[in-house]
Amino acid sequence: MSMYQKMTELLKTTAYWEIPIQPGVVWDLRSGGAILSGTTGSGKSWLSLFIIIIAAIKDNILLLGDPKISDLSTLSDFMPPGNVTWQPSDICSMVENAVNIMMQRYAYMKNERLQKNLFQADFADFGYPVVLVMIDELAAFISSLDKKSRDSFEANIKRLTLQGRQSGVILCSILQNPSTTNISTESRSQAAFRVYLGQSGGIEYRMLFGEGYTYPKRIYRPGEGLYMLAGKTMKPELIQTPRLDKSQLQETLKKALKSQYDRNPLNKF
Ligand SMILES: Nc1ncnc2c1ncn2[C@@H]1O[C@H](COP(=O)(O)OP(=O)(O)OP(=O)(O)O)[C@@H](O)[C@H]1O
Ligand SMILES: [Mg+2]
Repeated sequence: MSMYQKMTELLKTTAYWEIPIQPGVVWDLRSGGAILSGTTGSGKSWLSLFIIIIAAIKDNILLLGDPKISDLSTLSDFMPPGNVTWQPSDICSMVENAVNIMMQRYAYMKNERLQKNLFQADFADFGYPVVLVMIDELAAFISSLDKKSRDSFEANIKRLTLQGRQSGVILCSILQNPSTTNISTESRSQAAFRVYLGQSGGIEYRMLFGEGYTYPKRIYRPGEGLYMLAGKTMKPELIQTPRLDKSQLQETLKKALKSQYDRNPLNKF
């Protein structure tokens, strides 16, 4: 069976807003966004690609920003223009577009809720696909912008962080260093799925997971690290991200991302 078939098979038992990472670990996109962090070469990009494949097989919509012009931008061959960006101004526009989608969904849902008495109904109750906004090296990107673009970009990121969950516009940021200068306390506390791959001197753990935990001393191989999942874990737990077959990766992405063409994020399933 090909990797694509295996993954499709694996997903049959999960809802479209669920991203199964390993047995017992499911990132529920209804509970909020993610921060994927870790040292260089620890497997952040691979984990991101895995998440992208799963989200795409489930017919969700992906918006990818790759200021480093590395792994994510190579997916532009398999995706509609505008859904993968790497130039600063394009990344900013893409995020602004995500905020617009969020606001339009909000307006619609608010109205429907009032008329139909649907208290607290979210995007999934209305049948909207998830719009997953994934940005590589978000922190480095923000600091590279001039003041004016930075202010407006940061404001948009903040809105997605605080308001995106209910409308299904979900932010997944990838960053090497989860320090407070790199990521606001707000973003951290709003992220439902937090991962640190590879070795940490301790400070990165505290930054990402908070104070008061003890950490196992061990060697982490690429793809291994610790995670916390809102409402599911009491402390950071071991994560082993799925091993991907490199020789099938390109083909699998290409097949999965076919779902991305001609999609309107305001249309429901
Ligand atoms: N889940 C995995 N299964 C198998 N191999 C993996 C896995 N995760 C990572 N690797 C191996 O580790 C290498 C580095 O991983 P990756 O490119 O994802 O690191 P990264 O954290 O994104 O690094 P950088 O910060 O430099 O971008 C991959 O090319 C792959 O060989
Ligand atoms: Mg990477």
